Amino acid sequence: MKKVIVSAPGKLHLAGEHAVVYGKPALVVATSLRVYAELTPGARVKDDPYVEAIIEAFEHKHRVTVENVAIRVSSGVPVGAGMGSSAALAVALIGALSVWHGFPWQPQVIADLSYLAEKSKHGNPSGSDPAVATHGGFLWYRKEMEFLKTLWLLPMKYPKSFPRLTLVNTGRSEDTGALVSHVARVRVRDEERFRLLLDDVESATRSVAAAIHDENEKAFRSAIRESERLLETMEIVSYAGRSFIRQVEALGDVAKISGAGGRKTGSGVVLVFSDAPGRVAALAKRLGHITFEAVLGGEGVKIEQAVA
Ligand code: MEV
Repeated sequence: MKKVIVSAPGKLHLAGEHAVVYGKPALVVATSLRVYAELTPGARVKDDPYVEAIIEAFEHKHRVTVENVAIRVSSGVPVGAGMGSSAALAVALIGALSVWHGFPWQPQVIADLSYLAEKSKHGNPSGSDPAVATHGGFLWYRKEMEFLKTLWLLPMKYPKSFPRLTLVNTGRSEDTGALVSHVARVRVRDEERFRLLLDDVESATRSVAAAIHDENEKAFRSAIRESERLLETMEIVSYAGRSFIRQVEALGDVAKISGAGGRKTGSGVVLVFSDAPGRVAALAKRLGHITFEAVLGGEGVKIEQAVA
């Protein structure tokens, strides 16, 4: 091949993050922000351990050696912010390598291999990030058991009548693995309490999905608020993150963290739903946070270019 470009979307968890590691459902949505993997003939530079882990998973599965190929990655997904940039990278690169080696286009194989690569990066992932980076759209995802992951692509759109989504990057200083491990410690502290917490998260996740389906804005606001409170109980939202969200709520809007969160400094990307995005941007600016936008329901993994 002369050139292959494959892209995959970054994601947002609308509800169910962390609980999904323990077998509860998550509502996760692909965004319009994407990671691109470009392959051309050339020398392979081995300088990124995660890229090497992705390639190793690919080589092991397909019993091939990846050589004489130059890999270039470009990304519009903020890194380390809870938007699934590492899963999107794995999905885009494994997709590109599959095309490069002339294998059939099998999204589920791409998702499974990306899950293995993610495992090497942060221990105990649910698989929701590579699943949505592969399949796109609004995904209802559940890891029933290690060998059984169920997913349902919901034919829904974010309703036009709902408040506008603004993304605010509050930064964070821990990686996903450390935050998933912290929740595991919270669980061990009181297993019965944690079980009840997971049940509450599941019911909030169902409410978010139902509210979008029914275009019920009041129910949506209340389910997002509840999801955020439950994530705070899991201890993965920092003081600064909580303080920002309380200020958003004081303006009459709703907000939640998305993905792994963050305990020490910021809490990654915060989803703010507001009819007045200007006031959200002004608040974020005052606190030194970057604000951006993304469309919900992006396409899954996609061959952008394949030149034989
Ligand atoms: C990370 O994007 C989402 C978590 O639920 C971890 C996972 O599902 O693997 C925190």
